[in-house]
Amino acid sequence: MKEVLALVEKRKQEFAQLPFFRFMQDKTIDPRQRLAWAPCVAPFAIGFGQLNRFDFRKEPTDEPIQKLINRHTYEDDYHWLWFLEDLEKLGLNHLMKFSDAMRFYWGEETYKTRQVCHQIALYTFRSEPVVVLAAIEAIEATGNVALAVTAQVAQELEQITRQKYRYFGEDHFCVETGHTTGTDDIEKLLESIQLTQKQRAKAFEVVEKVFEVFTEATHEMRAYAEKHPIVQPLKAS
Ligand SMILES: [Fe+2]
Repeated sequence: MKEVLALVEKRKQEFAQLPFFRFMQDKTIDPRQRLAWAPCVAPFAIGFGQLNRFDFRKEPTDEPIQKLINRHTYEDDYHWLWFLEDLEKLGLNHLMKFSDAMRFYWGEETYKTRQVCHQIALYTFRSEPVVVLAAIEAIEATGNVALAVTAQVAQELEQITRQKYRYFGEDHFCVETGHTTGTDDIEKLLESIQLTQKQRAKAFEVVEKVFEVFTEATHEMRAYAEKHPIVQPLKAS
């Protein structure tokens, strides 16, 4: 698994350099504008809860790696509730017809974001637990990069609005360690896992796929933010 973790780290460094993160770190732009893509996260945030509950979690099990995965899924299966809270606080909880909300959720502007959980589920379907674990490590690496940046923007916003943003803010960043959660000394344990050549090839493939789908999603979200200017400036409360 050591080689898999090294690949995750390499891709993580590259992921952090994407234009989407530069956009979010650009303090010349209103912080709310830098989070204007937030509605596009809906298919991912909600789908990710489902992915953890219904795809990654397999109970009961005696398989030690599956047990580790199962524990991890309990942390990541409910964060979408924080996302819904933040939408409201960001002033993005627009009143719209249910059919319009569905059009947005299943529309062109969220196509890539929708692909994230879908593709990960396809790639990990009936995979050995060790391959799923590689996917989780890659997902956690992307989450760590993204939440480190959104937490900074959220902090800027918090100073203006006096609101706490649980999904995009510091709290979420703190529970996403960048690795599989719920197990002590996880990094050491992961490094000690020996993979067969076939497992390693599968793990490499799934890691590349995870970074690919998240990268595509970041481009889509940046394009959305650029097309949707926040009209109402924030007022300190
Ligand atoms: Fe999360």
